[in-house]
Amino acid sequence: MTGDIQFDGHGRLRHLLTIEGLPRQTLVDILDTAESFISFREREIKKVPLLRGKTVVNLFFESSTRTRTTFEIAAKRLSADVINIAVSTSSTSKGETVLDTIRNLEAMHTDLFVVRHSLSGAAYLIARYLPAHVHLINAGDGAHAHPTQALLDCFTIRQLKGGFDKLSVAIVGDILHSRVARSLIHALRILGAPDIRVVAPKTLLPTAVETLGVRPYSDMEAGLNGVDVVVMLRLQRERMRGALIPSEQEYFNLFGLTPDKLAHAKPDAIVMHPGPMNRGLEIDSAIADGPQSVILPQVTNGIAVRMAVMALILGGSPADEGRRG
Ligand code: NCD
Repeated sequence: MTGDIQFDGHGRLRHLLTIEGLPRQTLVDILDTAESFISFREREIKKVPLLRGKTVVNLFFESSTRTRTTFEIAAKRLSADVINIAVSTSSTSKGETVLDTIRNLEAMHTDLFVVRHSLSGAAYLIARYLPAHVHLINAGDGAHAHPTQALLDCFTIRQLKGGFDKLSVAIVGDILHSRVARSLIHALRILGAPDIRVVAPKTLLPTAVETLGVRPYSDMEAGLNGVDVVVMLRLQRERMRGALIPSEQEYFNLFGLTPDKLAHAKPDAIVMHPGPMNRGLEIDSAIADGPQSVILPQVTNGIAVRMAVMALILGGSPADEGRRG
């Protein structure tokens, strides 16, 4: 799919739909801007007026806790007005089409839509329809993309590992259904990570996964050997048609992250998970709550990263705010 719809005629980010095809500099700008927002968080007054007067609509056709809440907090910290719409309780359940829902919200002068949908490509469909002054951030479309999750993962990795150029990363679990994995693989490649591995039973790997620039493993010991970062993924049972794993116990025995298996990674390796996690299925509580886990810092970083994306798309940066005094 095309990357150009994401930029306006002046090369400014207009929508964030996918990581695929974005220039490295765009990713670095987002991470650097997020970094500057971290220092705002330490201030007594958390709000900055960058998006004062702008209206952000969080339009979620699929459930979410972390992503929706952190988008909401991020928009509020930028002083935008935020409206949350959970579509299961709105008119779409009365038969209205997605585009009609958008048309109505646009008629209320929405500046930015944050959209999550269970169908891959939904964010593109909506973005193509929007007029030039209305923006869209994809908060997850089907198994396709989840760009802000990839950015917050990369932000967390950069914060704790310093950079990407010598990095070994293992992404473990249900790669087949994971928009998080797809977006993260693109982001890590663009940022220059030399060793990206996917570790999963063959039934949970997309065909020809190597073409994404990753090395597949079907064994945890080899897959985790010497890595700096382990990213665990949730088994997306709601997306599975038919039995793709022998049994949950068997899956945990082979691919669940336990202290024994993590011992194959570097001693200072960090463990990540986008949430929601299934304890005892893909990850042992001893790891999830252990010293190498950065699962909660990921959530916190999601706020700064989402602030950065919204600020870059709707104009302005913390430096402008500084100039305004
Ligand atoms: C992920 C999602 O919804 O894509 N979670 C998230 O955004 N924090 C991953 C998942 O659902 O497993």
